[in-house]
Amino acid sequence: MKTLYLRVQTPHPEDPAIQACVRVLRRGGLVAFPTETVYGLGADALEPEAVAKIFKAKGRPADNPLIVHAADADRAFELASDVPGEARRLADAFWPGPLTMVLPRADHVPLETTAGLDTVAVRVPAHAVALAFLVAYGSPIAAPSANVSGRPSPTKASHVLQDLDGKIDAVLDGGPTGVGVESTVLDVTVRPPRILRPGGVTEEALTKALGAVTGPSKAPHGETDIKEARSPGMKYRHYAPKAEAVAVHGSPADVARALTNLRNVQRKSKPGFLISRETLRLARWSESDPTVYVLGQRTDVEEAARRFYDGLRQLDHAGVAEIYIEAYPAVGLGVALYDRLVRATQGKALDAAAYLRSL
Ligand code: TXA
Ligand code: MG
Repeated sequence: MKTLYLRVQTPHPEDPAIQACVRVLRRGGLVAFPTETVYGLGADALEPEAVAKIFKAKGRPADNPLIVHAADADRAFELASDVPGEARRLADAFWPGPLTMVLPRADHVPLETTAGLDTVAVRVPAHAVALAFLVAYGSPIAAPSANVSGRPSPTKASHVLQDLDGKIDAVLDGGPTGVGVESTVLDVTVRPPRILRPGGVTEEALTKALGAVTGPSKAPHGETDIKEARSPGMKYRHYAPKAEAVAVHGSPADVARALTNLRNVQRKSKPGFLISRETLRLARWSESDPTVYVLGQRTDVEEAARRFYDGLRQLDHAGVAEIYIEAYPAVGLGVALYDRLVRATQGKALDAAAYLRSL
């Protein structure tokens, strides 16, 4: 199939590109569209045949449920058979925004969408194009991240095309996304609500709004325990570049020294590096080197989250066999970034100071 590339002119329901995408969904087709977190691969959430195409295009395991997107909280809550008071409080505080709530599934939501579960994950995205598209379509849109299963999530329309060109009907280009990591998935069917996947809304913010939430337990470096995550999708290899990836822990000074050494040792295999600006300066490397990708200032975890998936894709594109990724502090949004780092590296990590001592 030929994938239509459509650029949004104005984020309005009447926009010609948005209207063309509405027609695609009405025919039961697939449209990739921007949200504030990452691009989603959308289909009509209430049409089982349309939803089945999402699983096929992504190569997604059939037991991994989809997030359903709605234009506002009322329409999102229509998808649930019961809406606890906490959910309404959370909607007031965080919607539109990068929070997904798991609620009991209403009967009219097909089991294809929820992968057979009696719960449904819903969210109202905080992106003008996504909201205009949802309003124009007038019905909820199921959308996982618009990548081939297991690959880094797309934060630009070009990332979507790298993975899905020829496999989906259209991509709606609304520019790069803002947050860069996915939404927080919160199970609101349990007391207190439980974080299934850390994401754009931090645990601190949720705790402030609700009084208490529980999260996946933290291992020594602050990573979430992969085995303990209960979101079905969290058990799969995820967010991973083609290259073998390794997380590198330590101060920028130690990371710069360790990576300089590794680069010399592995000169022949040309490894790639995803690092902070501080580390780049200390190592005296050039930013224009295609095997080096700068995530931004080490203190700016928001920028690092925004750039993380793009960095993995660019280094894959540069053809490196190995990628060393500087670990940022796992606080605030850094918890979600750290979770994606652990998954992309499948837990492989190097302590820069210990490595330097071993030389
Ligand atoms: O930011 C986001 O959440 C993006 C944008 C497009 O909205 N979407 C996204 O979807 O990341 P996806 O499919 O890549 O991740 C959805 C996660 C998976 O881990 C899935 O298992 C979990 O949400 N999930 C969906 N429905 C669930 C349910 N009923 N119970 C528990 N987990 C659920
Ligand atoms: Mg995904």
